[in-house]
Amino acid sequence: MKLCMIGTGYVGLVSGVCFADLGNDVICVDKDNNKINNLKKGIIPIYEPGLEELVLKNYKNNRLNFSTNLKESIKKSDIVFVCVGTPTRRNSNSADLSQVYSVAKEISKSINKFKIIINKSTVPVTTGDEVEKIIAKKVSRKYFSVVSNPEFLREGEAIRDFIYPDRVVIGSNDVKSKKILKNLYSPLISKGAKFLSTNRRAAELIKYASNAFLATKITFINEIANLCEKTEIDVEDISIGIGLDKRIGSRFLRAGPAYGGSCFPKDTKAIVSTADKFKTNLSVIKSVIKSNQIRSDILQKRVNLILKNKVKNKKISFLGVTFKANTDDMRDSSSLKLIPYLSRRGAQIKYYDPTGFKKEFSKLKNVEFSQSIQDSIKGSDLIVIHTEWNDFKSINFRKFSKNKKLIIYDMRNIFSPDKIKKMGFKYFGIGR
Ligand code: UGA
Repeated sequence: MKLCMIGTGYVGLVSGVCFADLGNDVICVDKDNNKINNLKKGIIPIYEPGLEELVLKNYKNNRLNFSTNLKESIKKSDIVFVCVGTPTRRNSNSADLSQVYSVAKEISKSINKFKIIINKSTVPVTTGDEVEKIIAKKVSRKYFSVVSNPEFLREGEAIRDFIYPDRVVIGSNDVKSKKILKNLYSPLISKGAKFLSTNRRAAELIKYASNAFLATKITFINEIANLCEKTEIDVEDISIGIGLDKRIGSRFLRAGPAYGGSCFPKDTKAIVSTADKFKTNLSVIKSVIKSNQIRSDILQKRVNLILKNKVKNKKISFLGVTFKANTDDMRDSSSLKLIPYLSRRGAQIKYYDPTGFKKEFSKLKNVEFSQSIQDSIKGSDLIVIHTEWNDFKSINFRKFSKNKKLIIYDMRNIFSPDKIKKMGFKYFGIGR
């Protein structure tokens, strides 16, 4: 099929490349000239394992193309995916839909034959209705169908999540479009993905409810971890113990520094805002948002406790600063609160991240990027393992550090406490 992806951000680029790899002709469009020129040269704007290889392969095969010409790209395509950003609006919790609506206007000017317009951007319930109204101002409804097809890709795992999704959700009341889309996704369905067909509004809400539920699960285990810390219980035992109940499930029960990234913080706020609009109180999700926000205070207190309140001049090494492993994304990372706090308290901080230097810390006092794990931890009093990169999982601290009083604060519980203690170092984890 001929597909057009509007927006070459995370969702548009990954989905476009994967659709091309399934044998479709795909044009990825973006208004950013520089980005498109770079993509044509094989320069990828984001860090995502496996993405570069797939871009190069499919661009070379001519199944994947890049363009800044929106009108022409829409005209050439049967299916148009809207994959633009829906960030949180300034001074509000609701999603900013200006890019979605402006793309809808552009699409309405370029419909030359029947087209399926798919909303892949995360958009509040009823956005599809608005998009349909905008396009219908210019074009008869018999020439287009607006469908919601949410994505469930995790950064760092996006290609695998695309190829092996748990489910494909298509929200539309139009039988013809559903059939075409089931066919588009048939290579994934035949490998085991469940196909779920709903009305458009339900598909829109499935996306937000999924992210809000996962955020709730993480926040739940983070609060249980707080209790574990006071009762000498290892939260890892609790995660396994409750996760074995199939009604609960074991995934997304890893206690950590707080959920971050470009989705959970934004989407939990947006679903509450949508519910407010419809005069419904989503009190559970409101509590989750609050609990996640105050988690940074809890972490700060714990670092103070670990350092016996003597933070000034302490040498602290951060391993990993992004919101999780396998991404270069800093958005809403818990390190953005913790590192400035420790810098203000006079700590001397070095950080190493496999994805390199972060401009977010460049103006902070006594915060320095290290080129290697070894450089970062040399001479440290405290090592904070902030993300769970494989690179950190088998560090021999004894080899790299001569400091007998070295303390390890493992915020992802990637080490066995006993192993670290046997090396002669003090170990603190989350909820253990
Ligand atoms: C999330 C969802 O998992 C995807 O399904 C969804 O498509 C995506 O948002 C989106 O809406 O676009 P992502 O934000 O990339 O994906 O990352 P996750 O792997 O979900 O992690 C989010 C945060 O939760 C991270 O800070 C991570 O460290 C934290 N987390 C995750 C935990 O603390 N514990 C866990 O058990 C899992």
